[in-house]
Amino acid sequence: MEGSSGQNNTYAKGLEGVIAAETEIGFVDGQEGRLVYRGYDITTLCDNSNYEEVSYLLNYGKLPNRKEMNDYLEKMKANSEIPESTYEIIEKFGRKTHPMVTLRTVISNLASYDPQESDSSIENQRRIAISITAKMPAIVGAIHRTIQGKDIIKTKSELSYAGNFLYYALGRNPDSVETKIMDTALMLHADHGMNASTFSSLVTISTLADIYSATTSAISTLKGPLHGGANERALKMIMDIGSPDRAGPYLEAMVARKEKIMGFGHRVYKVYDPRAKILKKYAAYISEKSEKKNIFETANKVEEIMINKLGEKGIFPNVDFYSGMIYYSMGLSPEIFTPIFALGRISGWTARSLEYLQSNKLFRPKALYVGEKGPKSYISIQERQ
Ligand code: CMC
Repeated sequence: MEGSSGQNNTYAKGLEGVIAAETEIGFVDGQEGRLVYRGYDITTLCDNSNYEEVSYLLNYGKLPNRKEMNDYLEKMKANSEIPESTYEIIEKFGRKTHPMVTLRTVISNLASYDPQESDSSIENQRRIAISITAKMPAIVGAIHRTIQGKDIIKTKSELSYAGNFLYYALGRNPDSVETKIMDTALMLHADHGMNASTFSSLVTISTLADIYSATTSAISTLKGPLHGGANERALKMIMDIGSPDRAGPYLEAMVARKEKIMGFGHRVYKVYDPRAKILKKYAAYISEKSEKKNIFETANKVEEIMINKLGEKGIFPNVDFYSGMIYYSMGLSPEIFTPIFALGRISGWTARSLEYLQSNKLFRPKALYVGEKGPKSYISIQERQ
């Protein structure tokens, strides 16, 4: 509704419920607990597909045939070379810098090697999308090595996307079960409706900036604890609790202090997050295998208490509750959990940015002005109190 002041008075805090774009890429059914990528249920994809196929699906609209898959993998391989300055930044920032700060800096820096970054044609921006995606496993892996105070692995690995990441991060070839679990986690994180980081990337691309800029915006937005940062905090809480018998009093105290329990609740899902359901199964398996069974048992108790307490309010575990303990059980440090989220989400960010660019409209909403209308007279600085 247009007010007399020329302001649209329809206002939704946090844009809750506002439809900001059309998409064919994916949707989240918060009531049924479904996540769909281009018509495929996430459970179908996790049971049958892999991250590379899902990345293609999101970005090109269909599952690839054999030739299309091979071409996509060839392009990824050809773009996987990391500039030396990327490693220098990662080493220089080292452990003292938040890994999401390092990640956004190195992605932004990649643009300085690309004389074509400003050409906003779809073909060129698609080229950039592939180039960034192809470099992500080695970049996130290298950041993890510096966090652990270890040397960066620069020897090329030719495993899958998930396998390469684990190789660069852990400095060893992962086994097939670890690779499958990481591959699944990355598929589950690849896209998720109009979440805050995806929206950021769309706002940036809508100015006809480039995919480097859109991805840098998205990474900055993902950094916050209400979005990508919750998995690290969820694991920390479970470790603080320490054992199932301590979960009750610990949670009572948090609820009494009106603190949010990390890894629970969601803006869209009001039932059990389907991603958490898939990850829970793997969390049980891998925590037992790595002798961290106590962490899973404690988490399971936290889930039981929380669902009893807050389930009727629509608060259930979300994807971040079980992902952290899976990564930790694999030997990954908690500081790298949010960059792993980005490692998966990169395909959703690029797919949605490219989709938006094809029928672009600059994002330019309004703010409801609630300040003084004036006009006030100007008082010089000498006379101001
Ligand atoms: N623990 C305890 N109470 C909660 C929680 C929680 N984790 N989440 C929501 N509530 C309560 C909240 O206190 C409020 O209660 P009341 O109506 O009595 O004031 C009610 O539920 C609604 O909460 P809200 O924060 O207004 O709802 P929202 O839609 O803005 O919240 C959320 C979504 C994810 C920000 C919130 O659930 C939260 O802060 N969760 C913890 C952080 C977290 O796990 N984030 C990861 C989200 S999943 C990753 C992703 O997909 O990006």
